[in-house]
Amino acid sequence: MTPTLFTPDRAAVVGRLRAAGCVFAEDEAELLIAAAGSAEALADLVDRRVAGLPLEHLLGWAEFCGLRVAVDPGVFVPRGRTALLVAAAAAVAGPSPAVLDLCCGSGAAALVLHGRLAPRWLAAADLDPAAVACARRNLDPLGVPVYEGDLFAPIPSQWRGRLDLVVANAPYVPTGAVAMLPPEARLYEAPVALDGGVDGLAVLRRVAAGAAEWLAPGGHLAVEVSAGQAGVLCAVLADAGLTPTVVRDDELEATAVTARRPG
Ligand SMILES: C[S@@+](CC[C@H](N)C(=O)[O-])C[C@H]1O[C@@H](n2cnc3c(N)ncnc32)[C@H](O)[C@@H]1O
Repeated sequence: MTPTLFTPDRAAVVGRLRAAGCVFAEDEAELLIAAAGSAEALADLVDRRVAGLPLEHLLGWAEFCGLRVAVDPGVFVPRGRTALLVAAAAAVAGPSPAVLDLCCGSGAAALVLHGRLAPRWLAAADLDPAAVACARRNLDPLGVPVYEGDLFAPIPSQWRGRLDLVVANAPYVPTGAVAMLPPEARLYEAPVALDGGVDGLAVLRRVAAGAAEWLAPGGHLAVEVSAGQAGVLCAVLADAGLTPTVVRDDELEATAVTARRPG
């Protein structure tokens, strides 16, 4: 953490955060104090946190799989549970794979996979211009291109049928459940990052259809869903000609599905 040049009233910050319902008030106070360069900046950060802004949007970064990922306002904050998706994807990737992080948001998954795999090609893509700009901030320094557009549409056509791994943490919250999400998600993340249609699988159905076309024979798709959606998703993937496997981590409360294109 960077040293502060002012003397913050830690107890007062913790008290305000705790009163506002922040469960990890002490940890958050340390992070906000470290991020603030002055008493005025700290007061502003605490005011906005107490008003409900996500901590990560205030800090401008989130911790994901041990890495610091830049996260801009409105962009989906990478969740701890998505570590399972990244691990499941890395486990099925062969040597020097061609990898696409679809629905990349901040580009968190691509950032981690860049370090874990030795991809011969790695790219990311998202529909939302704010997410694309954020992902470029994270991935440009690594030379990883970020494309803007609907699912596979912006991907260079030379990769059709040649991808070894497609990772997609697409939106999967059923439309009717979006209103029940915590305010930090509902109010401060883009609806396009959350809403997965009537049963939550509308985008993933399209991802499955596209993956069957863009994966190389023997390549894998890796996606995240809720535990209750995994059965229907497996049927969708099988209908698309892919062979699904469900992976579960109870500690992370996470479910991922990998699906192999035969061949
Ligand atoms: C749940 S967020 C996940 C972001 C990131 N993968 C992560 O795990 O942090 C879903 C992302 O999918 C993007 N998205 C939604 N529909 C899309 C589409 N049709 N094509 C491309 N991206 C889409 C949203 O903009 C959002 O960034």
